[in-house]
Amino acid sequence: MKLYKKSVSFFLLMILALFLAACNNSEQSSGDGGTEEPQDTTEDTSGDSGGEGTEESDEQVTIVYARGVDTTGANEKLVAAFEEQHPNINVEYREMPSDTGQQHDQYVTEFSGGSAEIDVFDADVIWPAEFAQANYALELDRFIEQDGIDMEQYFPGTVAAGNFNGKQWAMPKFSDAGMLYYRSDIVEEPPATWDELIEQAGQYQGEEGTSSGYLMQAAQYEGLVCNAVEFIQSYGGQVINENNEVVVNSPETIKAIEKMQEIVGSDFVPDNILNFQEVETETAFIEGNAVFARNWPYMQASANDEERSSVVDNVEVTTLPEGDAGSASTLGGWMAMINRHSEHPQEAWEFVKFMTGEEGQKITAIEGGSPPTIPALYDDPEVQEAGALFDNPDFVEVLENAVPRPVTPIYPEISDIMQIELSKALTGDQTAEEAASNMETKITEAMNE
Ligand code: GLC
Repeated sequence: MKLYKKSVSFFLLMILALFLAACNNSEQSSGDGGTEEPQDTTEDTSGDSGGEGTEESDEQVTIVYARGVDTTGANEKLVAAFEEQHPNINVEYREMPSDTGQQHDQYVTEFSGGSAEIDVFDADVIWPAEFAQANYALELDRFIEQDGIDMEQYFPGTVAAGNFNGKQWAMPKFSDAGMLYYRSDIVEEPPATWDELIEQAGQYQGEEGTSSGYLMQAAQYEGLVCNAVEFIQSYGGQVINENNEVVVNSPETIKAIEKMQEIVGSDFVPDNILNFQEVETETAFIEGNAVFARNWPYMQASANDEERSSVVDNVEVTTLPEGDAGSASTLGGWMAMINRHSEHPQEAWEFVKFMTGEEGQKITAIEGGSPPTIPALYDDPEVQEAGALFDNPDFVEVLENAVPRPVTPIYPEISDIMQIELSKALTGDQTAEEAASNMETKITEAMNE
């Protein structure tokens, strides 16, 4: 595997990290803008089935575990390994949509109605603050203390993503960062810059039966925001700065949106690129239809899956191309949370603990290709062997420097605004200047509400 270290703009990233910390603190202390203090859920549940000190009993219990579509088969293995160690707990899997926004909306509908049906669920890194604020989730500190879980074993950023109001609401399950996949049987030297990518995508399209030069996630949904954050940051722009000011209306952001327009409007992407999410990207790429693709690390597993992929051994992964300010990856990833109304909190916790502990994360890494949130696992020979990315110290650096999305309970509103305005720019309904200006006005309004 080739993974080129590129001149990531560390200064910008550090500023952003500082801002996020400040933003998190101010959210914690603000109490305005419709932000209600979440109730302390500890007492509510300690009297019933799952309070502190409650031992797991021998009684058969079924817990419902919800997560998005798993194309890798890792989930089945994870559940089987857990059930083998806990013969009294059955895990019933509930499949949710693969689109994170649709998944989010289903959870909001269920949890806001107080449903106890789902016990454990996977949460996108952008949800814990909102779900904690809305009181949908069980706070996990008492379980963490009870079982002596060492939170320092995790990458600090992944723990922070699950922490709100000084409490831990979510345990880190795996981390994500946008990567560039390419066909090593076609490409000689992967592109260093977005302009080189555009050139090579046009040049190589058609080779080895490919119909597209490049694939990305350009549909109007959360993945578009992730792709856009990468372009914006790589051209030196930001959405919100270290002083919590919306600064998205900048020449850098406009240039980034224009680059996205150039790619989406080119002949080397599929005609329906505006409908592409991760699943469409994965399917087209592993069927051998594209030279380059932007996707998350899990695609290293599917690309090498003998049963599904026709490009086994012909795929390499590298960092995303650079704009004027370097290369940038959006930080993604998933956490495990417990429904605040679960009737089996202790059993739910056992499952969360297993999935997010070393053993569970190892299964997710080996079978699912998704990056562990426990740094020590990158030294594990079986993990290293499972995915080329895991065997490369530069990849850990990419994860550590990836650009987080704002940690705030109003993140869904910010994202919706970005999705709509960016989409209009990509369909040609507005210019890049208009998109940047509208995002700035509307995000500012949302933050001041
Ligand atoms: C991946 C990321 C997640 C992101 C989503 C967007 O699942 O892990 O954080 O929001 O893609 O589609």
